Amino acid sequence: MSDNSFGRLLRVTTFGESHGPAIGCVVDGCPPGIALAADDFRRDLDRRATGKTRHTSARREADEIEILSGVYEGVTTGTPIGLLIRNTDARSRDYGSIVEQFRPGHADYTYWQKYGIRDPRGGGRSSARETTMRVAAGVIARKWLADRHGIEVQGFLSQLGEIHPTGIDLSVVEGNPFFWPDAGQVAELEAYMDALRKSGDSVGARVDVVARGVPPGWGEPVYGKLDGELAAALMSINAVKGVEVGDGFESVAQKGSEHRDRMTPEGFISNHAGGVLGGISTGQDLRCSVAFKPTSSLRLPVDGVDVRGDVVEVVTTGRHDPCVGIRAIPICEAMVALVLMDQALRHRAQCGDVGAVAPRIPGHAGEADDKR
Ligand SMILES: Cc1cc2nc3c(=O)[nH]c(=O)nc-3n(C[C@H](O)[C@H](O)[C@H](O)COP(=O)(O)O)c2cc1C
Repeated sequence: MSDNSFGRLLRVTTFGESHGPAIGCVVDGCPPGIALAADDFRRDLDRRATGKTRHTSARREADEIEILSGVYEGVTTGTPIGLLIRNTDARSRDYGSIVEQFRPGHADYTYWQKYGIRDPRGGGRSSARETTMRVAAGVIARKWLADRHGIEVQGFLSQLGEIHPTGIDLSVVEGNPFFWPDAGQVAELEAYMDALRKSGDSVGARVDVVARGVPPGWGEPVYGKLDGELAAALMSINAVKGVEVGDGFESVAQKGSEHRDRMTPEGFISNHAGGVLGGISTGQDLRCSVAFKPTSSLRLPVDGVDVRGDVVEVVTTGRHDPCVGIRAIPICEAMVALVLMDQALRHRAQCGDVGAVAPRIPGHAGEADDKR
């Protein structure tokens, strides 16, 4: 099993390599009647793209999407939606020196051990180029969630190396190249990233995602828990080393009297759970937090091993992201949206006749702003 597909009723399959002729995906199970055009993909593909600022990789892909199937006269037909993006700016010669080497921290050694062969050009299938198609599939999910349920999924960078936001204002996130929620710190981040790039090193980051407007009741109680599927989906993104839902690991130090989210007829008074209880949405904001490791491809030399087992000096040239978390915001949003849409369709299939159940307890007011 090679598992290039995920989701149950909304099933996404991606294919392609970083420097192959194209990357693509098939989105199967999408309901008919959703207006969909190539322009719908532009915003999120641009938000993920490289080469837009000096703080991300210099590779410049056009990311022009072609809708191959599943759409007729501007609306989805219910048949598989085929999406394709041609790679236009691959520079495979940059990878000549690592064809026979294993980059420490990258997937070269594990792919070699698993398949006995690998495509070293730009990292092949292990490259985050694959995540372009997750973002494309996520556009469809985000559209459906917004149109049918008024759900909005928003991500932001909540930590860059040792730097934390001094305040959280989500209205400024799209106005700076770091998706940072504190406009007053952008100059500090610019200076930090410039020094980092000069040094040849890289740094980790943290991305938070909030989904607002999720109704109570979505999620399966045991093996298909909403939080379990969110964690799996977010962990499947390249370079992710940790996922938290709600207070996550902070819960370890909390008392039960503090962590339990008290309910009043007027609303919840807190959201430590992050919008999920028993694997099922509470109707509160869904909150996830994702840890990204520092980029492993560095021009700083390091002793390593090659395919013959000999000791070699590994130096990675080519175009790389000094902090992969910066570009990961739309990818995290897409994975959250795809999980939510899949769960929504599954909920509709089994419990569509149940309807709204009283009492419905409103979410904790202003909660999106009260974390970190
Ligand atoms: C948006 C994004 C961009 C990335 N860019 C790079 C990069 O330029 N260079 C690199 O070595 N790794 C990059 N990565 C991470 C690698 O793809 C990843 O570390 C590698 O596939 C090994 O997998 P793992 O870290 O999940 O174990 C990026 C990841 C993301 C999410």
